[in-house]
Amino acid sequence: MKISDSVALVTGGNRGLGARLVAELLEQGARKVYVGSRVPEDVAEPVRRDPRVRVLKLDVTDADSVAAAAVAAPDVTLLVNNAGVLGFGTVLDGDLELFERDLRTNYLGALRTVRAFLPALRAAPADAAIVNVLTLIALAPVAPMAGYCASKAAAHSMTQALRAAVAAEGIEVLAAYPGGIDTEMLAGVEAQKADPEVVAARIIAALAAGEPVVWPDDASAAAGAVYAAGPARLEQMLAG
Ligand SMILES: NC(=O)c1ccc[n+]([C@@H]2O[C@H](COP(=O)([O-])OP(=O)(O)OC[C@H]3O[C@@H](n4cnc5c(N)ncnc54)[C@H](OP(=O)(O)O)[C@@H]3O)[C@@H](O)[C@H]2O)c1
Repeated sequence: MKISDSVALVTGGNRGLGARLVAELLEQGARKVYVGSRVPEDVAEPVRRDPRVRVLKLDVTDADSVAAAAVAAPDVTLLVNNAGVLGFGTVLDGDLELFERDLRTNYLGALRTVRAFLPALRAAPADAAIVNVLTLIALAPVAPMAGYCASKAAAHSMTQALRAAVAAEGIEVLAAYPGGIDTEMLAGVEAQKADPEVVAARIIAALAAGEPVVWPDDASAAAGAVYAAGPARLEQMLAG
């Protein structure tokens, strides 16, 4: 997709990777960027000052909020499903309320947002695209994040179904599978973490190149090669 023609919406664009995706889209010349945020006041002042930025109140778990956002932003041509939550817990004793919250946000929230913005994407005068920010551990779980991994696995499957469903309409669907990123989501977790600026830049570069899949950091790129060699190998690697 030609980024300079795009009118983007980034969900959860107020902080973390979402804020970096907003910055990268502006840097690459996007025509307009809607910054989705549950709390509009959380969007940083310098970002608000960019004349191409519109702050959009948006909670992806709230059907009324998503519907109102779609009415307020009818010109979106690029939807970036970035909003996400992570509840820690293993498959044997993780809190099921956290598992449910992750599913409601990471899977159903993203799907609800896609459905709400499809009319806008279909009406796009030129290219239209959807980016789903998934994770490497959508493809094989790590033990302490079992509920999160399952929610992202569901979102991964949704992404594949969506790609097939909208291909004939010319809407591109890019799936991003990052490894650990240095944001609040992983605060306090000892792990290799990529710079969110690098991850955002690689996602937007893959979008510009028309790729269907991106492994946007060095760790995920290495793991992606393992996955390509055989999904069971990635499962063994992450289980270890
Ligand atoms: N960090 C990692 O290691 C990592 C790795 C792979 C993939 N990812 C994915 O990358 C994406 C961004 O994560 P991050 O690392 O930037 O996490 P983060 O720093 O915790 O930011 C999460 C963002 O999602 C928003 N959000 C959460 N629930 C929402 C809801 N119901 N409606 C709208 N917005 C909501 C948050 O808004 P509030 O400010 O209102 O809470 C925040 O803007 C997520 O999809 C995550 O799963 C992260």
